[in-house]
Amino acid sequence: MTALREPDLVNDVAEILISADRIQSKVAELGALVSSDYAGRSVTLVSVLKGSLPFMADLMRAITIPVRIDLMEVSSYGGTATESSGLVRILKDLSSSIDGKDVLIVEDIIDTGLTLNYLVRYLRGKNPTSLRICSLLDKPARRLVEIRIDYLGFTIPDQFVVGYGLDYGEHYRNLPFIGVLKPEVYTAL
Ligand code: IMP
Repeated sequence: MTALREPDLVNDVAEILISADRIQSKVAELGALVSSDYAGRSVTLVSVLKGSLPFMADLMRAITIPVRIDLMEVSSYGGTATESSGLVRILKDLSSSIDGKDVLIVEDIIDTGLTLNYLVRYLRGKNPTSLRICSLLDKPARRLVEIRIDYLGFTIPDQFVVGYGLDYGEHYRNLPFIGVLKPEVYTAL
């Protein structure tokens, strides 16, 4: 058996798709929009671990109205490292009730939409006053279910991306930009 090679954070990235600066100005824009849309109210941000962590951390600081945060962790199973299956398991549930709250789901990327579709149905069942979706990235080419994204950062082409929270095999999350992984990395790691 060949030993798995360590990821190379500099050389495994083929192209920087969205720079750290572009991410930060988009986050500021989204934060301002959320603050004005929910003005006079407070909003509960529900983020989905682990990929949304940097986005959540930056977005909450760009919002100027009162926020509560909660974290869920879900894993899709039955798929592969780069393909989602739509079968979702909740690894970590909400820690507080969202009954009667204005809830904004904070996601890293919407690909097939299957994970979010499951999550929306699950959270709707918990009786929030409103439920909206904010996603940093949208990869519409592979969508299998219709999803209405209320706040969107960037639409990206059908490429597997890493960085700013997004991983391949749990690595590359700490890159400050969104980059396209070299295809040969999928087979080598
Ligand atoms: P969906 O259920 O197909 O919409 O998949 C959503 C989840 O798949 C995201 O929250 C990510 O964790 C993961 N994912 C989808 N596309 C990518 C990608 O290009 N890079 C890294 N993770 C991805």
